[in-house]
Amino acid sequence: MEEKIKKLINRMTLEEKASFCSGATLWKTKSIERLDIPSIMMTDGSYGLRKHTGEKDYLGIYQSEPATCFPSACALASAWDVALAEKVGKAIGKEGQSKNVSIILGPGANIKRSPLCGRNFEYFSEDPVLTGEMAAAWINGVQSQGVGASLKHYTAYNQEYERMTISAEIDERTLQEIYLSGFERVVKKAQPWTVMCAYNKVNGTFCSENKYLLSKLLKEEWGFEGFVVSDWDATNNRVDGLDAGLDLAMQGADGANDKRIVEAVKAGELDESVLDQAVANNLRILFKIIDNNKENASHDEEVHHAIAREVAADSIVLLKNEDGILPLNKEKLSKVAVLGAFAKKPRYQGGGSSRVNPTKLDCAYEEIVKLAGDAIEISYTQGYSIDNDNIDEITMKLARETAKDADTALVFVGLTEKHEPEGYDRTHMKLPSNQIELIEAVCSVQENVVVILTNGSPVTMTPWNEKAKGILETWLIGQAGGGAIADILFGNVNPSGKLAETLPIKLSDNPSYLNFPGKKGKVKYQEGIFVGYRYYDKKEMDVLYPFGYGLSYTTFEYSNLQISKKEMMDTDTLEVKVKVKNTGKIFGKEIVQLYVKDIECREIRPEKELKAFSKVILNPKEEKEVTFTLSQRDFAYYEEDINDWYVETGDFEILVGKSSREICLKDIVHITSNLNTCESNK
Ligand code: BGC
Repeated sequence: MEEKIKKLINRMTLEEKASFCSGATLWKTKSIERLDIPSIMMTDGSYGLRKHTGEKDYLGIYQSEPATCFPSACALASAWDVALAEKVGKAIGKEGQSKNVSIILGPGANIKRSPLCGRNFEYFSEDPVLTGEMAAAWINGVQSQGVGASLKHYTAYNQEYERMTISAEIDERTLQEIYLSGFERVVKKAQPWTVMCAYNKVNGTFCSENKYLLSKLLKEEWGFEGFVVSDWDATNNRVDGLDAGLDLAMQGADGANDKRIVEAVKAGELDESVLDQAVANNLRILFKIIDNNKENASHDEEVHHAIAREVAADSIVLLKNEDGILPLNKEKLSKVAVLGAFAKKPRYQGGGSSRVNPTKLDCAYEEIVKLAGDAIEISYTQGYSIDNDNIDEITMKLARETAKDADTALVFVGLTEKHEPEGYDRTHMKLPSNQIELIEAVCSVQENVVVILTNGSPVTMTPWNEKAKGILETWLIGQAGGGAIADILFGNVNPSGKLAETLPIKLSDNPSYLNFPGKKGKVKYQEGIFVGYRYYDKKEMDVLYPFGYGLSYTTFEYSNLQISKKEMMDTDTLEVKVKVKNTGKIFGKEIVQLYVKDIECREIRPEKELKAFSKVILNPKEEKEVTFTLSQRDFAYYEEDINDWYVETGDFEILVGKSSREICLKDIVHITSNLNTCESNK
């Protein structure tokens, strides 16, 4: 392969090489007919394919081919199931293959720093391990179908405010531990065919020109073998970008950048070998695409819709279930009221470049009616308008009457697309006022209330969360979400999702609150490594629902934690075993979480950090043993004195539990660093 690439590059003119480093159109790369080099097509695809059918309408609101809309990353992450993420990736890859798409622009592996970020719905988690594991599995699924993925947006793109110019000011330790390590994990575990650099600057340098990020870390240290593509129009100075490691500038340019590259090489300002390297990186992936192209590939839309439903159900998080209000008991209930416009007009995906034109769309109301059968009468009232936040007294009166007249009320609320799209951030975490009013109104006349939330980012729930007996967080769960919600409500599926991000009580609790979204072109990440639960735990703060939390209709018991060593060198590995038993009466899935705590350290460290997890499938009374393997990096922090990861000699707690705030079992291992002091690693 490398020989073939070299020969081809030798046959290319300087102009051809330069032009091969930028796109031809919005979605396509350039072909060079003289040398039989074809063009390839890329499309968006964070949670489904967005194959554009027109050159205008950039956000593809009307003009993309129908494709399965799977749960978005915020939902999928709550499943904590790498096999499921791989299944979704595989299905999206299959759709890509059958639609002649070569590269799918996703997934987004940015860290959720603030609940206000407009694109949080496209990102997995506040934690880099969960982010990295889910994104890697997704990519492995896509790429198993012979289609490439583009891991994005590399890096520190955690807000929409001034997204094209803002500089994320981050100290090196924070960058490494929080904002890079997820990307690093994905590159090492899934080797994405492409990585998309972000629009923003990091510490003053555009990501698209950041040699440290693109070349030193991504390519040299992590061993990335594909090409780096710019986010659409993220290129600033093309020559500097090329020199930094930006192989392909998208979208298609007018040729001006190609000319600049040629001139820079001729003037001796850019070494031609740098250009050759970028061309080689682009060609390597191009050949991979050609080799993996499957003529006449097809997929079954119904099968993919069924996968979307399965994934959606496993992504839903049951936050509250007082008096066992769920699952709905068909024997006992005769009338259930469904309230809220989202029950009939679902909010199931985000807005912007990730937007999918779904092959079909299930609505919760119809699916509830289907599952209720003849046993339960289902009434419905809209409760609020999706188009505005106005409180309408007549609508509210009707809602009260409908709710009062039933045994149980299901209230569908959430954010509309205008509240959380790509392009701008939210300014608060509240639900629209007419929806809050609806919940309050229903709770005032009905004691059996279940609130079903649809939103891409956390919302504040006080004070109504005290009144509702049941709360389901369904996130944005894709085109089959309606059926999935009905499955959970009636117990056809036992909820098994857990929170991939902390739900704070209020916005001002969030660690980035005082420094979001920045000003004068800079956003200071002053909270440092203390993002999400790392902050709330360290500050011993109450949260609404903690990271890793989620209820089930069954119960689980943890026992027999065993660690393979009590003392070890940091270069050794540690095996951790734990038994988990389904102690309830129904089938269920439990997400077992392993955290590590460095008991004493010269640097401040989080109370605990997620290092591994496993979703275990258990029949009633069944018990399984889960095994995790931890190695050096799982105990290390990034030590700026040596610019490297470092394990300080001492005791480390191994914590295994049901959530970040429900640790069931712990043990201690003593680890000796292979360095006398961290100084000796210099
Ligand atoms: C977004 C990317 C997207 C690209 C192409 C950009 O504005 O940031 O996520 O892949 O457009 O649509």
